[in-house]
This record gives sequence, C-alpha cells and structure tokens, in this order.
Amino acid sequence: MDIKEAEFVISQTDYTKCPAPVFPEYAFIGRSNVGKSSLINMLTNRKGLAKTSATPGKTQLINHFFINEQWYLVDLPGYGYARVSKANKSTWDKMIRDYLKFRTNLMYVFVLIDVRLSAQKNDLEFIHWLGENEIPFVLVFTKADKLSAEQVNLSVEKYRKKLSETWEELMPMFVSSAEKKRGREEILEFIEKTKTEFKAPANIKKKNPL
Ligand code: GTP
Ligand code: MG
Repeated sequence: MDIKEAEFVISQTDYTKCPAPVFPEYAFIGRSNVGKSSLINMLTNRKGLAKTSATPGKTQLINHFFINEQWYLVDLPGYGYARVSKANKSTWDKMIRDYLKFRTNLMYVFVLIDVRLSAQKNDLEFIHWLGENEIPFVLVFTKADKLSAEQVNLSVEKYRKKLSETWEELMPMFVSSAEKKRGREEILEFIEKTKTEFKAPANIKKKNPL
C-alpha cells in the first residue's frame, strides 16, 4: 500500500471526542520508549509526523492521523513509565482502556514489544486484558536492528512459547525496525487486508475530518 497522504488530525484525552468513527482505525500501544511514534513515522514515511524522544513519556494524548483519506493511525501514550505518579497512572488507565473498549471503529491494536527484552509482566498483563475484553490485536517486535538475526528469532520464539502457556491460538506477529524500515510492507499489507472488513455505521454521515 502506498501512503499518499498522512495528516495529523487531533490530540485529546477522551475517546468520545475522537473523530467520528466512520473510517477503520489502527492504534499503537506498548511500554514507554518501545518505539510507537517511530514506527508510525516509519510506516507513513514521514519523519516528524508523530513526536518521538529518547526520553520515555513523550506521547501523552490520543493522537489521530488520517491516512490516504481512508483510515486512521492512532499514536497512544506508553505504559510502564516509572516516573509517573499513581494519580497519573490511573488517568492513563482510564483514558486508554476506555478508548480501547469503546472505540467502535478500532480494527486492531498493535502491541509493541522491545525485541531485546524477555516477556515483561506489564506487557503480559496488558495482552491478557485485551484478550479478556475481546479487543483484536497483533504484536510488533521493535528495534530489531539492535540484535543479530539469530537473536531476534530466538527472542520471538521465546515470546511465542510464553504466550502459548495461556493462549490456544497465537495472534499475528511482526518484526520491525524503524531504523532500517523493516516490517513496513508486512504491516501495511495487514492493514490493507483487514480494513476491508470495516463496516461504516449507517447513522453517521461520512465527512472529511480535517
Ligand atoms: P513514548 O511516546 O514515550 O511512550 O515512546 P514511544 O514508544 O513513542 O517511542 P519513540 O518512538 O519516541 O522512540 C523511543 C526511542 O527509541 C527513540 O530514541 C527512538 O529513536 C528509538 N527507537 C524507536 N524505534 C527504534 C528502532 O527501530 N531502532 C532503534 N535503534 N531505535 C529506535
Ligand atoms: Mg510516543
């Protein structure tokens, strides 16, 4: 799929204020600093579209990007950022979990996992929460350029084994590197294929949100 247009639409904290749910939507989530914003920039081929930073906690809001005037990419704040207060954590929880549970046009959540790390408790908990709530998701292993091909395979295999302890059937998984543009074709192909399953609500008029 060619990305001809990628426009920032809006940032806010409340799913009810998101653009009208008339186009299919794909959201990116994972621990702070895992590479969500970088992956969005890599997929869209636009360096500064989503704000990135070497310091965790850069993305704080629900950020919508409108792609090819047909679908949305959503950059979400990360979880597991040690320096946020308890109050901030529960604000994050409510904002993100409500968005994930109630956003009707959400097709898939991309859960990003740093390929260098073994399975982390908060990632596994989050994945299980998605499962319990029947929210469709896939996994994307990020920063593959930081390991050898062999180490990447080993790490993904370990993750599969870990998930197989609780999941009967495993979700699709992608390996990516924002640095080397790895995984771009596969992820865009997945989006292209699945977005055809979207059924626009009959009672909301389609309009260009920009
Ligand atoms: P928050 O918004 O803070 O939750 O972080 P994020 O998940 O959006 O991460 P972001 O894209 O801002 O990237 C965090 C850091 O990781 C930056 O310094 C990026 O340059 C780096 N990074 C992201 N993806 C890759 C990758 O594929 N390879 C390498 N080597 N570095 C990466
Ligand atoms: Mg970010």
